[in-house]
Amino acid sequence: MISVVILGSGNVATHLTRAFLKARDVKVVQVYSRNAENINYLKKKTLITDDLENLKNADIYIISITDDAIEEFSKGLELKGKLVVHTSGSVNMNVLNGDFDKGVFYPLQTFSKGTKVKFKKIPICIESNTKNGEVILEKLASSISKKVYQIDSKQREKLHLSAVFVNNFANHLYQIGNEICKENKVPFEVLYPLIKETANKITKLSPKDAQTGPAKRNDIKVMEKQLLQLSYHQKEIYKLLSASILKTHK
Ligand SMILES: NC(=O)c1ccc[n+]([C@@H]2O[C@H](COP(=O)([O-])OP(=O)(O)OC[C@H]3O[C@@H](n4cnc5c(N)ncnc54)[C@H](OP(=O)(O)O)[C@@H]3O)[C@@H](O)[C@H]2O)c1
Repeated sequence: MISVVILGSGNVATHLTRAFLKARDVKVVQVYSRNAENINYLKKKTLITDDLENLKNADIYIISITDDAIEEFSKGLELKGKLVVHTSGSVNMNVLNGDFDKGVFYPLQTFSKGTKVKFKKIPICIESNTKNGEVILEKLASSISKKVYQIDSKQREKLHLSAVFVNNFANHLYQIGNEICKENKVPFEVLYPLIKETANKITKLSPKDAQTGPAKRNDIKVMEKQLLQLSYHQKEIYKLLSASILKTHK
């Protein structure tokens, strides 16, 4: 049985707490939030606290708070000899600052409190500065997911960068598509099957091979006509992405 204390009450902390409470070989000993109201709902399931001096004994302490606050927050932890990890994709393991073993437990998915996730399919990227830490994290990650990867801080930084392109930027393009649909009174849901197939296809073909569209075909007349229909801001994005596609496929 692995015992964990979760520090945070945001999107990821909430999902991790839920998943660990359900996992057979994990005991959620305590959840911390600087704002106790956020975790009151957990009172019947585990111990809660808003006081860092009142942390209980556990094998692993999982910090899941705003990236910029992790370093300063970790300095305030008196957890000599324990394993302390964060859950960030972009923060180096070594920002964890204290007399404890360090690690990372990064679930590579987009989490919001209001949406359900299936942890079994979510890749969990783990890292530790000790062999023992690696072993415990592997065990902890395997208790909720079938996809566990040993990824060091340098690789994770690049993975996160890649995720910004495939998730954040792709989603922003959905937003622009949605705007265009709204302005023209076309339901955005007409595009759902296309969006799903685009995502599905790159599990079978490389993204390069899966590319279609006017820029890939160098269909200049179509591109000129489409540019005329866009706002200044949309035009800039259209030109930049089309130039990148043309360069890739020239
Ligand atoms: N959301 C995702 O999709 C996702 C995916 C993978 C990894 N991550 C990583 O997981 C971590 C948490 O992300 P999130 O999306 O769950 O964040 P979030 O929902 O914005 O929640 C941030 C949490 O940090 C707490 N916090 C901020 N500053 C603090 C401080 N100085 N001391 C104590 N607590 C503090 C907040 O407390 P209050 O509520 O009191 O303000 C809140 O509980 C980040 O490292 C993020 O990079 C996020």
